[in-house]
Amino acid sequence: MDTPKEIFLKDYKMPDYLFDTVDLRFQLGEDKTIVSSKIAVLPRVEGISCPLVLHGRDVKLLSIKLDGKELKGEEYKLDSRYLTLTSPPSSAFTLEIITEIYPQNNTSLEGLYKTSGNFCTQCEAEGFRKITFYQDRPDVMAKYTCWIEADKSLYPVLLSNGNLVEQGDLENGKHYVLWEDPFKKPSYLFALVAGQLESREDSFVTCSGRKVALRIWTPAQDVPKTAHAMYSLKAAMKWDEEVFGLEYDLDLFNIVAVPDFNMGAMENKSLNIFNSKLVLASPETASDGDYAAILGVIGHEYFHNWTGNRVTCRDWFQLSLKEGLTVFRDQEFSSDLGSRTVKRIADVSRLRNYQFPQDAGPMAHPVRPHSYIKMDNFYTVTVYEKGAEVVRMYKTLLGSSGFRKGMDLYFQRHDGQAVTCEDFYAAMRDANSADFSNFLLWYSQAGTPSVKVTTSYDPNAQTFTLKFSQEVPPTPGQPVKEPMLIPVAVGLLDSTGKDMPLSFIYNNGNLQALKNGNQPVFTTVLQVKKKEEEFVFSDIPERPIPSLLRGFSAPIRLDSDLMDSDLFFLLAHDSDEFNRWEAGQVLARKLMLNLVADYQQNKSLVLNPNFVDGIRSILCNSSLDKEFISKAITLPGEGEIMDMMAVADPDAVHAVRTFIKKQLALQLKEEFLATLKNNRSSEPYVFDHPSMARRALKNTSLAYLASLNEPELTELALNEYKSATNMTEQFAALAAIAQNPGQVRDDVLADFYNKWQDDFLVVNKWFALQAMSDIPGNVANVQKLLSHPAFDLRNPNKVYSLIGGFCGSPVNFHAKDGSGYKFLGDVVLQLDKINPQVASRMVSAFSRWRRYDETRQTLAKAQLEMIMSANGLSENVYEIASKSLA
Ligand code: PHE
Ligand code: ZN
Repeated sequence: MDTPKEIFLKDYKMPDYLFDTVDLRFQLGEDKTIVSSKIAVLPRVEGISCPLVLHGRDVKLLSIKLDGKELKGEEYKLDSRYLTLTSPPSSAFTLEIITEIYPQNNTSLEGLYKTSGNFCTQCEAEGFRKITFYQDRPDVMAKYTCWIEADKSLYPVLLSNGNLVEQGDLENGKHYVLWEDPFKKPSYLFALVAGQLESREDSFVTCSGRKVALRIWTPAQDVPKTAHAMYSLKAAMKWDEEVFGLEYDLDLFNIVAVPDFNMGAMENKSLNIFNSKLVLASPETASDGDYAAILGVIGHEYFHNWTGNRVTCRDWFQLSLKEGLTVFRDQEFSSDLGSRTVKRIADVSRLRNYQFPQDAGPMAHPVRPHSYIKMDNFYTVTVYEKGAEVVRMYKTLLGSSGFRKGMDLYFQRHDGQAVTCEDFYAAMRDANSADFSNFLLWYSQAGTPSVKVTTSYDPNAQTFTLKFSQEVPPTPGQPVKEPMLIPVAVGLLDSTGKDMPLSFIYNNGNLQALKNGNQPVFTTVLQVKKKEEEFVFSDIPERPIPSLLRGFSAPIRLDSDLMDSDLFFLLAHDSDEFNRWEAGQVLARKLMLNLVADYQQNKSLVLNPNFVDGIRSILCNSSLDKEFISKAITLPGEGEIMDMMAVADPDAVHAVRTFIKKQLALQLKEEFLATLKNNRSSEPYVFDHPSMARRALKNTSLAYLASLNEPELTELALNEYKSATNMTEQFAALAAIAQNPGQVRDDVLADFYNKWQDDFLVVNKWFALQAMSDIPGNVANVQKLLSHPAFDLRNPNKVYSLIGGFCGSPVNFHAKDGSGYKFLGDVVLQLDKINPQVASRMVSAFSRWRRYDETRQTLAKAQLEMIMSANGLSENVYEIASKSLA
């Protein structure tokens, strides 16, 4: 293989040619598909002629005409990646290209491919070039029409973007449709679907009174499972009108669910394509987590209509412009429809468990990366989740109405354009006449800032001082960093636990009066801008307990000098519920790290009784939200703890986490039993916050109890399993039982499979549960499951469940004998031949190999080297493996 080429943001150049209109024609067939494309081309600068370079991958060129005349061999060049017209005219012309492609052989699930007999496309980021030759880049925006013809009985439903303008029958049992999309768009938003599908139909009347037809398409038998997706879509449409004043802009909105899909879902203009697992749900087959994910992702893709489609990205380095913003929007949507605190806790946990480690490893990259080999590798938690935190910080700094003004100006300036992160920044700045000095560093500097705070109270002066110092760690290619603008939301608690009113702050030689009309201020946002900075609160009558970084106001690691007693106090009293949870987590993280040290020194483990009391008081506090309780009594994940160690020790962390879980279960057994009983319900399943919160608390209690592996508790879990009437409770009971190896576990797992073998989404849960298990030597079970009749390496969801699930279990993936690493190394090579995007996601599990001890390092490195030496390695896997070894 030639060494793959790296592409740099600094090399961006505007396209030399613009495309005005594109008329596509698909003749779908069983052994080949013919694609004709007619493009109205315009030199960007009239009168200047230069080569026109079109992208193309795995497409066979049948014919190319310019203004109706077939081009001769010397007028273009063709290689495996580009079709170059050497000297096209210097004024407007028409290009007609006919190509042949083979969707039935396309296992990469990018471009046009087949999925359970139907045709479907995936064009983001660079899949359109697998359909036809094109300037496949987001700053080339054109109006499309799409003609599709296919066998009528095999493919009765033919869909594309925009409005259906014509349809009819053709000879030989074929039929055709013509779609026209009135909005110009980049090629990555093009979509086509053809197949045997049925739809759930509904409608939505927009704020200006337009009636929009809504259709969710699936195989006929799944239509009953689309009710929740439809509910979510309508809620999203309404929410975007109410919160952002954004109305849908066509008369039709289609969603198609497909079982083979690399990602979660795709926002193609008016034809969203979804991974089935994010559409299909019924109380019997989907869990509360699935219902919540569907709500969030249906919202996310719908919200892209404005943030992504109407205003799109100039180039792929700007991906966070649409993704960070749209994740922020879907998070807000889910918060407004459920519990804000619980949603925030879930999002911050995700950031800590996945993004912080990425930001501290060999794949660390800024929210706007500077370079890439394969763009597919940059659909990351950094671009998405850290990007959403960056958008959230604008809102924190500007307030709700300032943020909304910025959004309005952004659309006013850029509707119909392909723009950059600076354009978004400028809209926020200009709409608020704000001074943001170094805020843009959030887009260009990788690494999680680390902030230390020390506190001091002066009883004579009645002042309270917070001293900050910040450090942004070095990351690959960025050895030295500048200080960032970090918004730190702060409140101060008095000795009764109430928020103190804040009146004056002194910082950098300025005394600032805090005002909120006539209302007292209880939370203020400090702007930490320098490497070292001090804020002094005056008129503070007693030593306060500070509540720092309320609501997690910036994506940083915060380290303060608060004592355990302060943290217990915050856990009990903070008016900021997020920080209440956080105080418990800080305590738990400290406790776990100390016990890990004890474990490593072969000391016997003892659990601090204060911690047990703290958990007890949360568990038994009936004034708290039940889902909040469930989150607050859940220990930080193993990954989070390993991330805080100099040398990650999966065995020690696992042993300690298991020890604490069992101790809590033992010492709070009565409380957990009571909680479990009080939270049973015989009501039918409802997806609303109170019901989900009840189930969450019940299930968490059951998991604790079953961890004790006592016969009567296993019996209890078994009864929960048998009596459950929804998947949330049934699966939680199964998982509770599956903690303990033995006959009961084997029987229940077998029973569950028998029950659900015809439902592939449920079977994936069954794969994942076994794959993630921490039972010793689990690699052998997972190896066996690879040849289970329900498993298939070609289906991404199955791979993510079984292989991804296994890599998510630290003890077994990092088994000291290297068996986990070898397993993954072998699978990655097999997968890479089928689907490079999926293979590359899996190989990422190796990327932090340097975090472990020498034995593990040697074993993991050997696998990475073995992968690097393989023949015909994809660019996707090459990029991750080579950067991991660098
Ligand atoms: N753009 C999609 C989203 O986040 C994700 C995606 C990327 C899907 C690439 C498919 C391929 O909404
Ligand atoms: Zn998105």
